[in-house]
Amino acid sequence: MDRYAVMGNPIAHSLSPLIHSQFAEQTKQDMAYEAILVPTDGFESAVNVFITSGGKGLNITVPFKEQAWQLASDCSDRAQRAQAVNTLTLHENGRIQGDNTDGTGLLRDLIQNHELTLKNRRILILGAGGAVRGVLAPLLAESPAEIRIANRTPERAQQLVEAFQELGALSACGFDGLDGYQADIIINGTSAGLSGEVPPISESLFPGTEAAYDMMYNQNEPTDFQCWAEACGAKLSLDGLGMLVEQAAEAFYLWRGVRPNTQTVIQSLR
Ligand code: ATR
Repeated sequence: MDRYAVMGNPIAHSLSPLIHSQFAEQTKQDMAYEAILVPTDGFESAVNVFITSGGKGLNITVPFKEQAWQLASDCSDRAQRAQAVNTLTLHENGRIQGDNTDGTGLLRDLIQNHELTLKNRRILILGAGGAVRGVLAPLLAESPAEIRIANRTPERAQQLVEAFQELGALSACGFDGLDGYQADIIINGTSAGLSGEVPPISESLFPGTEAAYDMMYNQNEPTDFQCWAEACGAKLSLDGLGMLVEQAAEAFYLWRGVRPNTQTVIQSLR
């Protein structure tokens, strides 16, 4: 049986083992998938142990995505742009191939699952950390009218603009620089929710939007950002559970060459 795993810290609440075991059952793949808690200073040796034991592939989550990018012997263009890897394919000849399926996961969730249009839309992204960096290039490839990145530390947003500006219309500001801004879609890519907070943007941004999307999710209830966006007048508020399942499906496809049905898995997790 082929072995796969997700590595991260923390990892206990990861839904990836459940998602991949449902994919495997659906598509009749003979594989096992586990969650591995890795000490923060022990990523490379954990990967080597997994390879030695015959492991075929890994998903990588917080806080190891950048280290995985550095460890990979070669990377897809999308991982190279993101400077972060969430999927490693471990080849028998020792090659460690890195990819990043987060952006594809977000796009599939927005466009296919929620039937949103990104072309010619004004997208406001909150946050400028690794999660946002990973999805910028795929979002820009959909030809939005503009992406505005707003971050608590405006310099980090500006750095992303500099890194990605050749791919499309991008601008940066702090959370207090959004006066009069009209977004069609607001995406929360901050980790504020982890400490029970929401990014401090003006409530007046929400009533004119088509959708507010939180890249985070809670398994059994809406996120704080979703509740807040709705209370402020957002027409639609969405969480990142679909993105999680879609990025997993893309990783599964890279490893196994078959595309699982994501809808049934999203429904069962809800
Ligand atoms: P990740 O990989 O999850 O993106 P990260 O690279 O540490 O993690 O980035 C976290 C992002 O959430 C950053 O944009 C951070 O803002 P700063 O760049 O100013 O640190 C943002 N963030 C974290 N906590 C926040 C809070 N309470 N309010 C607003 N933004 C927050």
